[in-house]
Amino acid sequence: MRYVSANPLQDGLRLEPTPGPTTLVIFGASGDLTRRKLLPAIYRLSRGQRLPARFSVMGVAREDIGDAAFRDVFRKSLEEFAGVKGDDPVARSVATRMHYMGGDFKNPETFQRLKSRLEEIDTGGALFYLAIPPSAYATVIEQLGAAGLSKGTSAEHWRRIIVEKPFGTDLATAQELNRIVHEHFEEEQVFRIDHYLGKETVQNLLVFRFANGMFEPIWNRRYIDHVQITAAETVGVERRASYYEGAGGLRDMVQNHLMQLLALVAMEPPITFSAENVRDRKLDALLAAQPLVDDREGTPNVVRAQYGAGWVAGGEVPGYRAEPAVNPASTTETFIALRMQLDSWRWAGVPFYLRTGKRMPKRTTEIAIQLRRPPLEIFKRLTPTSVAPNLLIINVQPDEGISVRFEAKLPGTRMQLAPVMMNFRYGAAFGGPVPEAYETLLLDAMLGDPTLFARHDFVELSWSLITPVHEKWRSEPVADLPLYEAGEWGPPEADALMARDNRRWRTL
Ligand code: BG6
Repeated sequence: MRYVSANPLQDGLRLEPTPGPTTLVIFGASGDLTRRKLLPAIYRLSRGQRLPARFSVMGVAREDIGDAAFRDVFRKSLEEFAGVKGDDPVARSVATRMHYMGGDFKNPETFQRLKSRLEEIDTGGALFYLAIPPSAYATVIEQLGAAGLSKGTSAEHWRRIIVEKPFGTDLATAQELNRIVHEHFEEEQVFRIDHYLGKETVQNLLVFRFANGMFEPIWNRRYIDHVQITAAETVGVERRASYYEGAGGLRDMVQNHLMQLLALVAMEPPITFSAENVRDRKLDALLAAQPLVDDREGTPNVVRAQYGAGWVAGGEVPGYRAEPAVNPASTTETFIALRMQLDSWRWAGVPFYLRTGKRMPKRTTEIAIQLRRPPLEIFKRLTPTSVAPNLLIINVQPDEGISVRFEAKLPGTRMQLAPVMMNFRYGAAFGGPVPEAYETLLLDAMLGDPTLFARHDFVELSWSLITPVHEKWRSEPVADLPLYEAGEWGPPEADALMARDNRRWRTL
């Protein structure tokens, strides 16, 4: 399927909004996130001419390395993570606009200096990016407030803050963090990152559902049997054990990314495509979620497991407990499967099954909407098995696209049926590179558009669903979790979760 331009003469003439003059202040300027994601995103935005003419970066971290060394960090990060080789004019030009200051976040003097540096640079608005460990969020937010840096002084000199994930570790800590944030910043100044919202295919979900007339009429309990959302990764815990051991898959992937995907699938149509409208409807969708811990049901809605040793992509890999810096008796989950029920007029009786895991056979994120079987199977006599129900698959990554599965007649003189796939692929249809999530999100924050960011109430609501599960786990400690071999699709318990509803996970 190819993209058809309505008027080829207008291609390239679309006016893309450009932010006003901005200084991006990165706290944690020497950290991993800055090098891997933020600096490459700044470079790509500049190459695509999406940055304002007056733009600068101010890196802040404890060590005092100076502007020149920070510019070196920038060049190296582009080499490693943006494929930039040798002398690159765009990189050179951006580097001249990069500044650095060292300072202790606990010391108010650091923030007084930052204030003076921002006044010297005078590039208009200031976007503060918390690319630091969550334990330092409150300190930096409070210091920004105390130094008078959280309030804009004119329309051009706005102030905004980007808070990275994880936003809290449970409901109470998320509420407390929101309280501290709101003491110094208005909600419209706050941009809570969930990088899944910056992915092209995730944004496309809104377009797919609400810019087409043919899907919305069937997007409900009358036609949909169930929904499966899978986020599978081949990587293990890597060198992040110090964070992951305390987090686990439920906090790391479900509370944020999968809940966002679920809300986008389940939400009602917004009246307008405005940040508040879209986010209100997403919140409504999640408000209908039934508790995950329901003692009356007897069978759990949540299955957790941990990877054991195995093979992934042709290589032998150790089990989770044998990974560096992981407690050899750890009961941190690396896999989660759960069943959610949304009690709304649209979704009552339609289960949403979510699963995510590390060390799965392949990296893939998809949303599969399975429709009900046709009401009458008039071809029953001709096919040995019943016809496969229609499926709508949204491939979030890596092979971005949308597929529809339907039944067709096999060519031949006999009436035989077979399921076929109709595929739309981003790459084939539009060509060209798809922007990285961080590019989209950085640009939106500079533009002041919070549509693709998590609002305070959504984050808290999501935690209010997840926290009781952690509380239950804490109150019933176990010595071991169910295991799945690295390179497998999770434990048998995850299959049992579906089997009790007479359903199966999709084979991916
Ligand atoms: C992050 C998690 O938020 O998302 C990681 O902390 C995970 O554990 C990552 O690997 C997955 O993101 P993506 O974009 O690779 O699907």
